[in-house]
Amino acid sequence: MSKIGGIRVILLIAVSVIAVTGCSNKSNGESASYDASSSPAEVLPTQAPTATSTPTPTPAPTATPTPVPEYVEPVMEPVTWYNGFVDPRTVRATVVSNPEDIAALVNKYYTLTSDYVPPDLVDVNHSKSQQLRREAAEAYDSMYSACKENTGQGLYLVSGYRTFSTQKVLFVRSMNKRGIKFAVKRNAYQGRSEHQLGLAMDLCPEGEYEYSDDFGSTTTGKWVNENCHKFGFVRRYQKAYMSETGYDNEAWHYRYVGVELATYLYENDMSLEAYCGKCQVMPGDE
Ligand code: DAL
Ligand code: ZN
Repeated sequence: MSKIGGIRVILLIAVSVIAVTGCSNKSNGESASYDASSSPAEVLPTQAPTATSTPTPTPAPTATPTPVPEYVEPVMEPVTWYNGFVDPRTVRATVVSNPEDIAALVNKYYTLTSDYVPPDLVDVNHSKSQQLRREAAEAYDSMYSACKENTGQGLYLVSGYRTFSTQKVLFVRSMNKRGIKFAVKRNAYQGRSEHQLGLAMDLCPEGEYEYSDDFGSTTTGKWVNENCHKFGFVRRYQKAYMSETGYDNEAWHYRYVGVELATYLYENDMSLEAYCGKCQVMPGDE
């Protein structure tokens, strides 16, 4: 028995003894005097003492366990870099614990599970039959209208939500067609694409059906680049952020993070990785 438990037992026994010997206050506030000459019948309280319950020992406090993050082990070793872009197959990635958070970070180091599907996917207007999470789809609709009003041209969403298995096909296809050095700077490995979050979109001007680097130099592309934050989007992969994101420049890829965060990132010229304090770990940093 613990020390505290022991003390409790002693106190309870003492209280029980006092109760049995009649040391109690009367309801009218007068003190009960103990007359040694009185018979035990006069001294004993009229009410029988209640049984004392057995004290329960106080449980010792237990330490709160620190949650251990889940990881996806690399399929290849050792960690391999190609011109400053790490091969995601050689990276041990942490499983994202908050995929429904609109600011969730997904990249070569933070992965979604193969079965993760966003909760509220909806069909998107002005798209190649694509889906996004509802909030992002509504924001895209507003941006489309503003873009058309300001530039005279609308937008077209070529690729929005992508499943884990679609991403796998894209990575393998890119690797086979253009080689691993290209794939690691352009295509996300399965589980590591923010397209699987239902919050990313690849855009081109309305009337075109494929995205390309040229988007950045069109009037429409420039307008989107300068105004997307007002609708909650950021241009994720920029030349200046390459060493932080782990990807080459992508003029067409936008990510919904909400107006407040998008405005903050735009005004501070900051990547989502830098904001989260989780930039790509370069070989020299290890
Ligand atoms: N192109 C981006 C990195 C993706 O595949 O998600
Ligand atoms: Zn994309």
